[in-house]
Amino acid sequence: MKAEILQMLRESGDFVSGQELCERFAVSRTAVWKSIQQLQKEGYQIEAVTRKGYRLEGVPDTVAAAEVESRLRTQWIARPVKYFEQITSTNQYAKQMGEEDAPEGMLVVADCQTKGRGRSGRSWATPPGKNIAMSLLLRPPLAPERISMVTLVMGMAVACACRKLYALPVQIKWPNDVVIGGKKLCGILTEMSTEITAVSYIVIGTGINVNMTQFPEELISTATSLVLELGREVNRAELIACVMEEFEGFYQTFLADGDLRSLRGSYNDLLANRDRGVRVLEPGHEYDGTAEGIDDRGQLLVRLEDGSVNAVYAGEVSVRGIYGYV
Ligand code: BTN
Repeated sequence: MKAEILQMLRESGDFVSGQELCERFAVSRTAVWKSIQQLQKEGYQIEAVTRKGYRLEGVPDTVAAAEVESRLRTQWIARPVKYFEQITSTNQYAKQMGEEDAPEGMLVVADCQTKGRGRSGRSWATPPGKNIAMSLLLRPPLAPERISMVTLVMGMAVACACRKLYALPVQIKWPNDVVIGGKKLCGILTEMSTEITAVSYIVIGTGINVNMTQFPEELISTATSLVLELGREVNRAELIACVMEEFEGFYQTFLADGDLRSLRGSYNDLLANRDRGVRVLEPGHEYDGTAEGIDDRGQLLVRLEDGSVNAVYAGEVSVRGIYGYV
């Protein structure tokens, strides 16, 4: 009920009477008052005035479940939200939940990760109170080789949400790093569990650098954050809700098509590598070419010097710019 109360207070922008809240949620005045007190304890400034009701005056900087849920406009994505102030890795927890029949659409969010995981066995830093670390549990009716496309869909959702909320020139470095001005803003790590030919669940882990200003020496030239790009801090819960809404829409389209045919145009418009030189790093083999965009299956089409085009599959290789990270 906390999320619903918050949503009502936020949307009203003014006093909402205790009576209205009781009627809306079919609970007693005491139950409403208890929820208000809990919210106040969590740092929400809620003014309570006799005969007027409650008014939201200030919200804490939090990504706790009630705050994220009170901003969600999705049908089933990120429902429910499971929040941890600190966890080893949201991906690790979401995978555990996948094994335990947790509902599809569950979103695990943490304020801080102590063992955040990145791609290729690297680590991923999520210090307290700064960034977004979240993992979405899905059970797609797809063959394992199609899962890398879902990761591209999440990259698009993050890029589109950042463009919508902050009008920043956010792009995608194939397959799914979200970048601004060639520097990495967000990384995505998808992990899956399969049974012979079918997928039983996948976890899409998304890490976004939001209000972080200090980066380790080795990342300074390749990483950035929203606060550094915008010059002001941003609300993490609002961004999570917006990413989830974008994702739900794109994912529905993707599932209906079974591939990226309808999303490919928008993805290619966001592609930072487009028409640029790329180095393809296949196991035991490196070559250069020009990236032309993705095909319906999310493969990167790379034109070689002799004019032929190679389709590069996201699962097996990595790609970087010839002169830098993008
Ligand atoms: C990358 O290396 O680019 C992928 C980084 C993915 C980080 C996110 S943060 C939330 C989720 N939990 C993890 O342990 N990793 C992912």
